[in-house]
Amino acid sequence: MKSSLKIDLNDQISTIDNRIYGSFIEQLGRAVYTGIYQPNHFSADKDGFRTDVIDAINKLNVPIIRYPGGNFLSQYRWEDGIGPKNQRPTRLDIAWRELETNQFGLHEFMAWSKKVHAVPNLAVNLGTRGIQEAADLVEYCNFPKGTYLSDLRRTYGAEAPFNIKTWCLGNEMDGPWEIGTKNANEYAHLANETAKAMKRVDDSIELVACGSSSMDNPTFGNWEETVLEECYDNIDYLSLHRYYGYYNDDSPKELDNFLGKNVDLDQFINGVVAMCDAVKARKRSSKSINLSFDEWNVWYHSNDADAKITPWQVGSHLLEDIYNFEDALLIGSLLITLLKNSNRVKIACLAQLVNVIAPIMTKENGDVWLQSIFYPFMQVSNYGQGIALTPHVKVESYKSREFDSVPYLDTIATFDKNSRIITIFAENKNQNDIMDFDIQVDDFNFKRIVQATQFFGYNPKQDNRNGEMRLKQLTDIKINASEISVTLQPLSWNMIQIQII
Ligand code: AHR
Repeated sequence: MKSSLKIDLNDQISTIDNRIYGSFIEQLGRAVYTGIYQPNHFSADKDGFRTDVIDAINKLNVPIIRYPGGNFLSQYRWEDGIGPKNQRPTRLDIAWRELETNQFGLHEFMAWSKKVHAVPNLAVNLGTRGIQEAADLVEYCNFPKGTYLSDLRRTYGAEAPFNIKTWCLGNEMDGPWEIGTKNANEYAHLANETAKAMKRVDDSIELVACGSSSMDNPTFGNWEETVLEECYDNIDYLSLHRYYGYYNDDSPKELDNFLGKNVDLDQFINGVVAMCDAVKARKRSSKSINLSFDEWNVWYHSNDADAKITPWQVGSHLLEDIYNFEDALLIGSLLITLLKNSNRVKIACLAQLVNVIAPIMTKENGDVWLQSIFYPFMQVSNYGQGIALTPHVKVESYKSREFDSVPYLDTIATFDKNSRIITIFAENKNQNDIMDFDIQVDDFNFKRIVQATQFFGYNPKQDNRNGEMRLKQLTDIKINASEISVTLQPLSWNMIQIQII
């Protein structure tokens, strides 16, 4: 099969906002307890944070981390997680039916996020709580000093304000599973009033309002429009959440369908952008609302195991999906889709980061191990920098159970002006055939290949529990001044970096 990508440096989608490589830590399962925080672990530092986990996260280069939930958020009292640890209450987490000891809270999260070089994307509870608690939290975090809450923060060890910039107004408030679910009008009103109050405390913050928790929810569409209509002037982003599963048989046709789910992601994003812009037009506003894709991943492997978990434990083995090679291919394709939409998607959070539907897993009395999905994420977050270029692609497409047209090749190039390096991510979805892939340019010349890797050669159902998966050198590659020819293996994720003149 033949394919090509034409690169034109002047045909740009957008400067990439690095926050699209964000992630998410929820106080859920073993994300925190025995994940990032485990004082009795052999790698723990003086704060009880696992340094083996910190090292793995630093490789992923995650610039922003959403916290503390998720469903957990909608029943959480942030005050439980501050102050002396021996005075913090143990509570029922009625979202996930776990015990929450509150030994890890706001100050611990702030200290830990510095060690992984990320800024927080902090969420306020709009399920069981409201305007006052949210405004209080902004005051506690961001007000310099001289008030009850800002001085309480200082008493508890943080003299300087946290200066948290990005905040989420609740979580999945349309979801029937959520504690304190709301209808669109209820949420829109509460979110707007909360936004007003939070911005009164600190007008430098930016706010993310909840979109529908899924495109499959019956509220999708009306929910977005209602929220946008009421909150438009006081919010900066609208959120999207999407998880993909593999619900049918293990046939090659189903794999074709699974690997085409990036088409769904693209439609979802375009639909929400259209709604934001329709409301913008109706309001005759000059302001655009951008998107925060603050939960996305594959999530289905752990469903059966989760149903059997005994409730009211601390750090249960919840949502511990074990990812396989086909999941990694889909994650690569979803990342390319986020880049293709980087003109409007400014924040995105891979949900989640450690143990809970995560690229990084821990053994309680052992080391960290890396899931298959770690590899494409690591490459895109580290090298997909600078400007996303419009991909002009020629390739055949296939039809699958859910999608009329899925191109066999998914690809995009990014350009870093400073280093003059172009990075091309390319995935061959063809299960049987190699692909001859030509990369063409006409307004500049290629100088040298910086690195070329491929991720392939694994059974689609193989996972990485044995630690065998790794990126391999891509050697079947020819370069001249204006063209590069590469052979892409069947079912492969590839990255090629080229310096240009
Ligand atoms: O990420 C797991 C869960 O998925 C989150 O708690 C919730 O927001 C979503 O439904």
